[in-house]
Amino acid sequence: MIEIDEKDLHYWLEHVKIYANNGKVADYIPALANQQPEINATAFYPIGDKEVACAGQADYSFTIQSVSKVLTLALALIQHGEQAVFSRVGKEPSSDPFYSIQKLEVEKPSKPLNPMINAGALAVTNMIRGRGSDEMVQEILNLVRLLADDSSIDYDEEVARSEFETAFLNRALSYFMKQNGIITGSVEELLDVYTKQCAITVNVKQLARIAAVFANDGKDPDTNQPLLPSHVARVCKTFMVTCGMYDASGTFAINVGIPAKSGVSGCIMGVIKESGGLAVFGPALDEQGNSVVGMHLLKDLADDKRWSIF
Ligand code: DON
Repeated sequence: MIEIDEKDLHYWLEHVKIYANNGKVADYIPALANQQPEINATAFYPIGDKEVACAGQADYSFTIQSVSKVLTLALALIQHGEQAVFSRVGKEPSSDPFYSIQKLEVEKPSKPLNPMINAGALAVTNMIRGRGSDEMVQEILNLVRLLADDSSIDYDEEVARSEFETAFLNRALSYFMKQNGIITGSVEELLDVYTKQCAITVNVKQLARIAAVFANDGKDPDTNQPLLPSHVARVCKTFMVTCGMYDASGTFAINVGIPAKSGVSGCIMGVIKESGGLAVFGPALDEQGNSVVGMHLLKDLADDKRWSIF
């Protein structure tokens, strides 16, 4: 059992916050471009009905962006099962950036390599049940609210609209997949759902609680009630290890050694098996689109706590 208290979080966050100077806030989604690089926060949500520990601006809200890919994958697996989901998306890591289109053309059959890259996540979102985009978004929100134990969670309309209006690459990926039979229906409707799932807003305490459900094999970290089937939690965690940090996943596995998922808003959720969920936020990103402060904090805490699963 790994224990992380508020003193640990304060100490390490203080130690790594300077690294924000080495990164750059994402600006390809216009509404993210004005995030303040000096904002940072971290939280650890322990399993076993204990208090959440936090440091920094822990009530500051940010959009989950690519972290949503784990949650829509969980939902699609619950709704359709592994066979159906993996007929549309692969299980292999990619060494390309998250937005890359090139493997779609060379892979045969032409399905996206995994559900953590944008193409794969779009294919997964396309499978979510609902009679239109509003119902699909509602399904996703219901799952996020359940895992975070907070029914007030919603998406940020401005960030969703800003991404919807500028998501030319994600549209291109979607049309390519539609041509190849991986995606069905309206691409505009798919982009509507996808940009809203990415714009779901949380703070680090809520994100840490979501991670804690995965750390507890799909069960509520406080009550042990099942919230996700354990095999779904296991599949999601495995993708977090192999693909969660994109083309930095190998280095991250060596340096940090836990399932984790990042988002371009600057958040990272990390899963510490049987101990709890960790969340970090710091909007300055490295070349791979991962939070610089988050990466340093996780590496230093990993060395300190020796939590690597390997
Ligand atoms: O689709 C996009 O480009 C964004 N909404 C999400 C990408 C993302 O978060 C990648 N993560 N580091």
